[in-house]
Amino acid sequence: MQALKGLILSGGKGTRLRPITHTSAKQLVPVANKPVLFYGIEAMAAAGIDQVGIIIAPETGAEIRTAAGDGSRFGVKLTYIVQDEPLGLAHAVLTAEPFLGDSSFVMYLGDNLLQGGIHELVTAFREHEPDALILLTPVADPENYGVAELRDGSVVRLVEKPPEPKTNLALVGVYMFTSGVHDAARAIEPSERGELEITDAIQRLVDNGLRVEAHVVKGWWKDTGRLEDMLAANRLVLDTIEASMQGELVESQVDGRVVVEAGARLERSTVRGPAIIGAGARLIDSYIGPYTAIGEGCLIQNAEVEHSILLAGSSVRDLAGRMESSLLGRNVKIGRDQHQPRAYRFLVGDNSEIGIL
Ligand code: G1P
Repeated sequence: MQALKGLILSGGKGTRLRPITHTSAKQLVPVANKPVLFYGIEAMAAAGIDQVGIIIAPETGAEIRTAAGDGSRFGVKLTYIVQDEPLGLAHAVLTAEPFLGDSSFVMYLGDNLLQGGIHELVTAFREHEPDALILLTPVADPENYGVAELRDGSVVRLVEKPPEPKTNLALVGVYMFTSGVHDAARAIEPSERGELEITDAIQRLVDNGLRVEAHVVKGWWKDTGRLEDMLAANRLVLDTIEASMQGELVESQVDGRVVVEAGARLERSTVRGPAIIGAGARLIDSYIGPYTAIGEGCLIQNAEVEHSILLAGSSVRDLAGRMESSLLGRNVKIGRDQHQPRAYRFLVGDNSEIGIL
């Protein structure tokens, strides 16, 4: 059988995660200290797919190339494909046509996380040989997703972000296609948001009498497009970590499942897991609560942080109250200001959010 290829979509503007995405691609925001994108690449590798194309945008492509490299450390060969404009997921498929050729392929949205990977899916696709295989999951807000209607287990209708959804079954951002999807993508018109929707291309396959198999995902799935989703993804992944200690503890304690990476140093501090403390981070007279990922080289001094994600190089010092449910970008500094006049002083990018006690 012909080898399956992989296609990971890592373009897009990440508008719902601003200001983090003003300076960084949303697919590189870390979940449990690992870029979201890497989970998708690893899922491909684990399913035996070793030819993986990554769709990148001109603005963030260089950063993604630098982060993921040639793929050798994941055991795959990565080919970067530039999509000049974000004209939709089906447009991305067409942009990748020269790479995909007539191969069947797995398409994975680079900001999605799927528990348990894609191995089972690939097996089902190989065994049943449908023209496309989609994944669905019940959600509370189907109007924000592609929504599927099924009859006797078969897909009858797919609608992208319907204002009045007929079901609560959302399309998960992982799909499998035969090369027939290229013609379907060419045949559709842009949607109201001006994009060639993959949802419409799959509907086209259904309309043409082709076989679209739907699976309801068993484990959790997260689209990490918004802050709440990032925090939820971080919780879900941290719930699966194994404790490990490669840092240094000085009059400190860790409770439960805590990963302390190499070169991290805890002084008179407590970390209650599940949590991860990145390489070279320093915790001084501090408390880190459950579901927190402290990035590489961060400094937490005389502060309490819980249920949060801190990107590399950030510092949090001398807080009177506990910080929680927060996402700090790279090199952010939060601290008490000792200068006169006594006042709040902020240097904050566009679309930031600050909640103070
Ligand atoms: C895209 C798809 C949508 C799917 C979702 C999953 O939406 O268009 O059908 O349900 O991904 O993450 P977007 O992230 O482009 O809004």
